[in-house]
Amino acid sequence: MTPARGSLLGIEHLDAGEIMKILRFARRMNPDKPRPLLKGKRVLLLFYETSTRTRSSFEIAAKSLGAHTVLISATGSSIEKGESLLDTGYTVRAVGADVIVIRHPNAGAPHIMAEHIDVPIINAGDGLHEHPSQALLDAYTILRNKKNFKGLQVAIIGDIFHSRVARSACHLLSKFGVKIVLCGPPELVPEVATTLAPGVRVTRQIEEALHGTDVVMLLRVQSERLAGLKIDVPDYTARYQMTPARLKMAKKDAIVMHPGPIIRGLELTSEVADGAQARILEEVRNGVPTRMAILARAVGRMR
Ligand code: NCD
Repeated sequence: MTPARGSLLGIEHLDAGEIMKILRFARRMNPDKPRPLLKGKRVLLLFYETSTRTRSSFEIAAKSLGAHTVLISATGSSIEKGESLLDTGYTVRAVGADVIVIRHPNAGAPHIMAEHIDVPIINAGDGLHEHPSQALLDAYTILRNKKNFKGLQVAIIGDIFHSRVARSACHLLSKFGVKIVLCGPPELVPEVATTLAPGVRVTRQIEEALHGTDVVMLLRVQSERLAGLKIDVPDYTARYQMTPARLKMAKKDAIVMHPGPIIRGLELTSEVADGAQARILEEVRNGVPTRMAILARAVGRMR
């Protein structure tokens, strides 16, 4: 079966025109001015992994469009008892789901569901693969701060290898000709990352990544992962942590982004996290109108 119309499985196969349509529609969405575009619809949130921002903002987005939401999480459901992904999918379809939002630790899980279940499927993060709603809300945040993508340079710093956020962001930004510089140690930023999308460069030098950059996108770095790779935390922070001094190497009006959860003292200092250039909470806020647009598109009401 081909995925139901309105599904959002990834950014890679979405064209620039469709992306702009979603971003423009998101600008018209306001959670404080509810619009009944999903009135009477049921949005099932199927979360096989923990989530704070993504889950709550999909839920608020769905509710402010008039939908009913049902959350099924890995703890306290049949998911825990080992029911297969598809059987869970058939069940939620049978109870009357109109849209399914799914987060799963395995890459491709939403795609499998979309091949078998005839309702729009929205990928809320699948393994190390994609996180399309995050890329869209990040693009929305960039456009709110920078007007357009023309001539922009974005530095993405941290654990790119294990980041679905980075993958979706690279696909999205490269479709608009944005220069993308990935920065981190080889274990977290392998050279092969340049093949992710056109216009992607890799550097080990944070000075080089920051020079001329309009957007500094930081990604989560797990200390357990560093330990597993035999990278000392102090070595990592000495080379890659975002500090006020380093931030000065970027353009004067550069903004700092992070999908969250942030780890202060590792990826960035508190001065940067709470500083005037940070847009981290703005990203969380922008998640709501962006996901309203994604849900409206899912039910064919993005007009
Ligand atoms: C990210 C995720 O889950 O992929 N967070 C998010 O959705 N806000 C990034 C991460 O967990 O590092």
